[in-house]
Amino acid sequence: MPDSSSPIYLDNAATSFPKPPEVGAAMHRLIQEISLSPGRSAHRFSLAASRVIFEARELVADFFGCPDSSRVVFTSNVTEALNVGIFGLLQPGDQVLTTGMEHNSVMRPLRYLEKTRGISLTILPTDPSGNIDPDDIPRQLNAKTRLIIINHVSNVTGAMADLGAIGARKGGALLLVDAAQSAGVFPLDMEAFGIDFLAFTGHKGLFGPTGTGGFLLRQGLVVPPLTMGGTGSNSELEEQPQLMPDCHEAGTPNTVGIGGLAAGLEYIKKTGRDTIRRHEARLTRILLEGLSQIQGVTVYGPPPSDTRGAAVSLTMDGKSVADLAFLLDRNYGIMARAGLHCAPAAHRSIGTFPQGTLRLSPGFFNTEGDIRTVLAALDQINATR
Ligand code: ALA
Repeated sequence: MPDSSSPIYLDNAATSFPKPPEVGAAMHRLIQEISLSPGRSAHRFSLAASRVIFEARELVADFFGCPDSSRVVFTSNVTEALNVGIFGLLQPGDQVLTTGMEHNSVMRPLRYLEKTRGISLTILPTDPSGNIDPDDIPRQLNAKTRLIIINHVSNVTGAMADLGAIGARKGGALLLVDAAQSAGVFPLDMEAFGIDFLAFTGHKGLFGPTGTGGFLLRQGLVVPPLTMGGTGSNSELEEQPQLMPDCHEAGTPNTVGIGGLAAGLEYIKKTGRDTIRRHEARLTRILLEGLSQIQGVTVYGPPPSDTRGAAVSLTMDGKSVADLAFLLDRNYGIMARAGLHCAPAAHRSIGTFPQGTLRLSPGFFNTEGDIRTVLAALDQINATR
């Protein structure tokens, strides 16, 4: 039996682990050394906290090709960011184009608005791996199409949408991209891809802590806020200020978390996003090739390639995915996620609803040895079924 004494984490699509040591160090320093309420007072601690947030904003803007860092808004996660875009941009009668690979952070608000605001939803079909055909977009556009919502990389299959092709076909609609699984690993340039609203999470590929995320708004696009309250600016007003990014950032922010996210971004800059991507692609290729040798295992999603995310979904004949995840954890110390991954639509699209799949998601800190160990473990489980 493979050694289970040092656990192997293969659930990086849920959240990356470990974080670079710089992230924890930055957060420790921030909580020890400065007050954490930026923009509220004029004393040195408050100013230092404002600087932390400002520098993080600049890093995020630069990372995503956004020329103006005041267009970067921090939220507590990507779900909140997506909700701001979806609730803020859609009016009764609008049409939305989205894909069969979306997470519930997109599908639930959309289904709610379909019922309560009469928006109409067109779901673009996918091939069995989860890829849409960008040429379907112009066929579905009409005068009422307000928003195209695209999952950049699927958290279920790793399929990556061709944002360049999609942006070029968006017509008069706005393009909202859910970059939860791709930010930090794949290039994402707002201007180059024609993205109007880019939602990201801090705690996956960007190596920040949980509780961080945000969105970037294309210049000139106005989205009403979902949350209103104190911003530290225009305190004389009882109405929400319109100033960006303050209008979207009511309440004391997560300064420690945002400082950790900035350290994650610095780590990516130092390491090189392409180095990270190539390492993950190599591990994913070894994993996919190994799985193809295990009889009774079915893999869902695109074949190995450089334009594929690291989430690998599989089922095994004669074993439930819940049992597989349980056995991997208990007997081999391997952590993976089984089920629907909060994306029932994606599982419907690839034919694995309602049982779901076992998902293995390598990250930058996994080794080839980790992948060989999980392959050996699955081979052994398969032999005893
Ligand atoms: N959406 C995250 C996942 O896929 C949490 O596990």
